[in-house]
Amino acid sequence: MNILVLHGPNLNLLGEREPEIYGYTTLDQINNELNRRGAEYQAMIKTEQSNHEGVLIDMIHEHRKWADALIINPGAFTHYSYALRDAIGAFSKPAIEVHLSDLLKREEFRKHSVLEGLTNVARIMGKGADGYYEALDRLVKK
Ligand code: DQA
Repeated sequence: MNILVLHGPNLNLLGEREPEIYGYTTLDQINNELNRRGAEYQAMIKTEQSNHEGVLIDMIHEHRKWADALIINPGAFTHYSYALRDAIGAFSKPAIEVHLSDLLKREEFRKHSVLEGLTNVARIMGKGADGYYEALDRLVKK
């Protein structure tokens, strides 16, 4: 099984960025743990982070045949990028939207995700870095 893992804007700063909200785990630590678990499951994991909407969309397009599933934390694009929503909808295979924080307990603008309503997308939030590992576990056990 091949899984594409995408991290959106500002997630390169994990560990330093508002740690009281996002925790102290760095993006490298998250990616390393995903790769470690992936190897255990005999799954191929490709991880990528970008601060640019178009790059994330291009990554989904480029890997749409290779990837059997997608894990994505779209960062703030979650709340307004209809272009990213369309790319994930077009991907059409199983996807999990991961958020480190619980969006429902934060500012009003974070309570809405443009991914709502996409039938191929599930959501895990408020579990910190563990949310990514749970997403991987769920996808390989499907
Ligand atoms: C986030 C929540 C978003 O609202 C925010 O813009 C992020 C991170 C999270 O993981 O909790 O960058 O997606």
